[in-house]
Amino acid sequence: MQTASAYQIVTLANGTRSVHSLSHRETFHPVIGPVAEAEALYVRQLKLVERVREHEGEFVIWDVGLGAAANALTVLRATRELPVKIRMVSFDHSAEPLRFALQHTEALGYFDGYEQALEKLVENKQTTFADGARSVEWDFHLADFPSLVQPDAGNSPSALFPKPHAILFDAFSPAKNPAMWTQPLFASLFRLLDPARPCAMPTYSRSTMLRVSLLLAGFFVGAGHATGEKEETTIAANTLNLLDEPLDRSWLSRVKRSTSAEPLWEPVYRQAPLTPETWDKLCEHPQFRQTV
Ligand SMILES: C[S@@+](CC[C@H](N)C(=O)[O-])C[C@H]1O[C@@H](n2cnc3c(N)ncnc32)[C@H](O)[C@@H]1O
Repeated sequence: MQTASAYQIVTLANGTRSVHSLSHRETFHPVIGPVAEAEALYVRQLKLVERVREHEGEFVIWDVGLGAAANALTVLRATRELPVKIRMVSFDHSAEPLRFALQHTEALGYFDGYEQALEKLVENKQTTFADGARSVEWDFHLADFPSLVQPDAGNSPSALFPKPHAILFDAFSPAKNPAMWTQPLFASLFRLLDPARPCAMPTYSRSTMLRVSLLLAGFFVGAGHATGEKEETTIAANTLNLLDEPLDRSWLSRVKRSTSAEPLWEPVYRQAPLTPETWDKLCEHPQFRQTV
């Protein structure tokens, strides 16, 4: 185990290496490793290769929780032979995990060929480069994500972000990073999407609390693929067409019995059953009206 600043390189049970945050006491991609998890959770689940191949114009990806860039780089590598421009928009309130990872590229193994681009991204918060059959334009917003996306009198800088076709959502766990899992955050995120631009967002949690939060924010929500780490994940989208397995009324009937279903309305972790008001709102969601 190597130590530097607030991060460490750790070796996982399958021999791959990943980054561990000492302050959050969490390892990035902790079970199957950075590349395998990013491929299962984002590349395959989003059907990214197929979607990008069929796309005209630039394909916009939001990378929420840039961290050590494993998700973003795995997505770039998977799509590099497709002649479609990628616009990557990354968010993190710290550049330290990436700086740390750039000092350990050999151990991590997934930076191969992208080191210079990422050095520039850390330095300038922006980089553009030719990559395989296409070009990549990459912006890094170094800021607290919930503050950045919250609506404020219509002049929030987030209103100017290019609208995404896909979102890689990868915060630390809700118990340790509750500010990234509140219902108001997902509602702000949903408001920034273009209703005419189909967009899907997988994330590793399958918790009822998360799914209720996403539904109340306006997303359609489905069960997501297993990743090797989790037997089921979650995928949210602004159109039902992007979901293979939308949650249905049998899921809804179980929600009422859950002891941890009420969204986090504030950035403080706790578990609670649904309130009657939340239950009423949930039942009105068009997803359940369309799947009866
Ligand atoms: C699990 S790590 C992301 C790993 C990364 N996606 C990768 O592939 O290496 C979670 C990231 O979320 C970031 N994060 C946590 N809270 C945040 C906040 N309030 N605003 C922006 N980023 C945040 C952390 O700094 C951390 O880099």
